[in-house]
Amino acid sequence: ERPPHLVAVLVGNDGASQTYVNNKIKSCRECGFESTLIKKDHATTEDELIRLIKRLNVDDSVDGFIVQLPLPKHIDANKVLLTINPEKDVDGFTPQNFGLMALGLPSYKPATPYGILKLIQRNNIDPTGKRCVVVGRSNIVGKPIGIMLGQNKSIGNCTVTILNSHTQNIEKYTREADILIVAIGQPKMIKADMVKEGAIVIDVGITRVSDDSTKGYHLEGDVDFEDVAPKTSFITPVPGGVGPMTVTMLLYNTLLARKKVVQIV
Ligand code: GUN
Repeated sequence: ERPPHLVAVLVGNDGASQTYVNNKIKSCRECGFESTLIKKDHATTEDELIRLIKRLNVDDSVDGFIVQLPLPKHIDANKVLLTINPEKDVDGFTPQNFGLMALGLPSYKPATPYGILKLIQRNNIDPTGKRCVVVGRSNIVGKPIGIMLGQNKSIGNCTVTILNSHTQNIEKYTREADILIVAIGQPKMIKADMVKEGAIVIDVGITRVSDDSTKGYHLEGDVDFEDVAPKTSFITPVPGGVGPMTVTMLLYNTLLARKKVVQIV
């Protein structure tokens, strides 16, 4: 029996995306998964990318594949996502999987929100009845984690508030949060005075900030960790918090795809 096979499609040369995709491929190797990285240059057209996806959709040697986001501006990401075969959509980004997830039905769950649920579960945090504030409403993190934590599931039943860039006085909301999830890509935005004593803080931010190290940059989260950590009962660092969980759940979804466990109607 062959191992699970994940294909990652990377278009263009965004530095951060290259790092993420390389991490995914490396983790496949460590787990004994087969993996293929398909790199397309920045000038790739929408039609070319869609033709590639249609090939992957029907290639029986491929269990799951992802198209790393963001895509170059001349490509309509929504149109691309609509082309992906939901049965191979191990990122859970297609309308089919997002819809099933939102209805609480079996589906591939998006890797980052799924990783956050696992972090909560494996650290024996019971979210039931807690106030959860999500800063950021993206389709790949804020919106789905808000839906999932509000659902009537064993890891769920939170009272969820989702904030966006138009929200006035975000600290008014963040200070009320028992569980604070931040996914906005604004380095060190969240300070101690914005956080409730004893809160659970989950930092999804990973911004590259230039410095004079040999790499030329370091990663910063959306939360000012040094400032906020002493006030919390649980906090995830950057790097080494949510990021590795995203990769883990992507590989888990790929294993499910290999076994065809998830029933996509
Ligand atoms: N860009 C940022 N996060 C992700 C992710 O989880 N999957 C993909 N495909 N692109 C991303």
